[in-house]
Amino acid sequence: MKKLLRKFKESRIYSIFVKYLLRNFFNLLWEYIINILGKILYLIWILFRVSKERYQFDKKKCLKIVEFDESFKEIALLANNDLDKNYLKNIESKIIQENQKSEYKNFTQIVTDKLSNKSLNKILDVATSDKIINTVSKYLGVFPILSIVQVYYNIPVKEAELEGSKLWHQDGFGYRSLDFFIPLSNIDDTSGPLYIAESHPEYGIFFKFKNRISDIIQWKNGRVNLDEFSKIYKDEQIYKLTGNIGKAALCDSFQCYHRGGACEKKDRLMLRLSYQTPDAIRLKKPIEFIKTYKKINNNFILNFLYKYLLFYRGFLLSDRVKNYFVHTYHFFTFVK
Ligand SMILES: [Fe+2]
Repeated sequence: MKKLLRKFKESRIYSIFVKYLLRNFFNLLWEYIINILGKILYLIWILFRVSKERYQFDKKKCLKIVEFDESFKEIALLANNDLDKNYLKNIESKIIQENQKSEYKNFTQIVTDKLSNKSLNKILDVATSDKIINTVSKYLGVFPILSIVQVYYNIPVKEAELEGSKLWHQDGFGYRSLDFFIPLSNIDDTSGPLYIAESHPEYGIFFKFKNRISDIIQWKNGRVNLDEFSKIYKDEQIYKLTGNIGKAALCDSFQCYHRGGACEKKDRLMLRLSYQTPDAIRLKKPIEFIKTYKKINNNFILNFLYKYLLFYRGFLLSDRVKNYFVHTYHFFTFVK
């Protein structure tokens, strides 16, 4: 029976069903039923927002590279002041030391705690700016929750294998999200650039590779190696985040396959802002600093929306229901 189902999910007729019916059905279900609260809040946001400014974002590709933005550069300069060379060297030594005792070779550490209030204030000012909220809301179709505000420090680790997040994968924690990957150091081919592929043009999130890795360890499971990936995706559908500070990649990490972080020679610092919705599993607790962060405005309605953006974590939906949704998306994938 299982074998038969697998065969059916690889068939032409199923691919047509996914492309023309299933995908559209889930798009509507997700935006207008599951996220009805976010939809209403988005309409309120449109009425009360101060500016309409936003990044142009291709909803079909689910990704965009911003070549330069002064505010991203300012964040990078401030963060580099806090995360000085000695501090980073210390972290590198600690990771290498711990790797000697462990089979798993770690290559990354979150360093958000080390940022000064000035840097964190700047990050949150940008993360809650009209330009970014407009971009995210327009893409999602609903008002978002800021789930992740983290700075990652990646180092080159010689013995580390190409596995986990360094292979192609989608972050299967929900249906739609929008992430801002903002480099805080200049990135070249040797400092583990992030690679992002456009969302699959026909099947979007409902596309899985037949020859994906199967592993009982969850962070290794479902990953796709580079050769398998290039059989389906052409080079022109894949973007690489290299360049100087000021640049950023915007992508839906639930819908788009991506990989990265495998530094060969140089280290790298990256800020990630992830905007999600209440149905996403693993919504992160707000970072401690957010509790003291003050968004200056006198509008009662806007204050309410900012509170939702920064603190709401989807209490109306139980974890069981959220997991059920995610399993449903996985169950219906077309396999090739
Ligand atoms: Fe990921």
